[in-house]
Amino acid sequence: MGSVTRKPLIAGNWKMNLDHLQAVAFVQKLHWTLKDAGHENDSVEVAVFPPFTDIRTVQTLIDADKIPFALGAQDLSTKDSGAYTGEVSGAFLAKLDARYVIIGHSERREYHGESDDVVAAKVQAALRHGLVPVICVGETAEDLEKFGASAVPAGQLKTALEGVASDADIVVAYEPVWAIGSGQAATPDQAQEVCAKLRAVVAESLGADAAEKTRVLYGGSVKSGNIASFMREPDVDGALVGGASLVVDEFAAIIRYQKHVGV
Ligand code: 13P
Repeated sequence: MGSVTRKPLIAGNWKMNLDHLQAVAFVQKLHWTLKDAGHENDSVEVAVFPPFTDIRTVQTLIDADKIPFALGAQDLSTKDSGAYTGEVSGAFLAKLDARYVIIGHSERREYHGESDDVVAAKVQAALRHGLVPVICVGETAEDLEKFGASAVPAGQLKTALEGVASDADIVVAYEPVWAIGSGQAATPDQAQEVCAKLRAVVAESLGADAAEKTRVLYGGSVKSGNIASFMREPDVDGALVGGASLVVDEFAAIIRYQKHVGV
């Protein structure tokens, strides 16, 4: 597993799934499942990333029941307020105690044309409001063939980190586009190679201390059956999970990777 100074982060990106009623049922059930299994809350940080419309409900539940999950959003505006119909400000997310915000997910890049510059502006917006950006980078199958695995994600991260202070709290997620929702995860070796390269980019951009403390996650077809093999890699500090984060038992098993696979 990654350095002892970096607490593993298992993050569930729900994408456009679970309405606010389903969200309540899901979060309660996940909490009870982990409790029943004797999961130690402080061994792994758990974060959920519901759709915007669920955030208030999930925040209220987490607060009321003292559920030890961090809350995150899936996107935010580059702007703080104003005439931007349909946008959601980082200021609003911070008020709801969101800690994290996913930025630059490949689905935003692909379906909403988000460029590296927009991603960089969103990273700045998150940091202005005390949110921790989860900066997603990754190569398509075509990029992989043309440039190898790390060139494109490294370039994306370099732009995203322009103007970021060396002591900023950030998370990086390596999500090869070809592995997302395909059932074909990267191999642990591939994930390690790119995550190490991304850590080197953090070192170049923000310095050695930042690189040592920044968590680099792997995402793309993570399941209970492969999580442990990723977590054994020294530069993989957690996972950003899509489909498998929507199934309580499966997500709980991913969170408990140390126990159920005996790492
Ligand atoms: P899957 O786990 O469904 O492959 O999705 C990964 C992802 O995009 C998480 O952000």
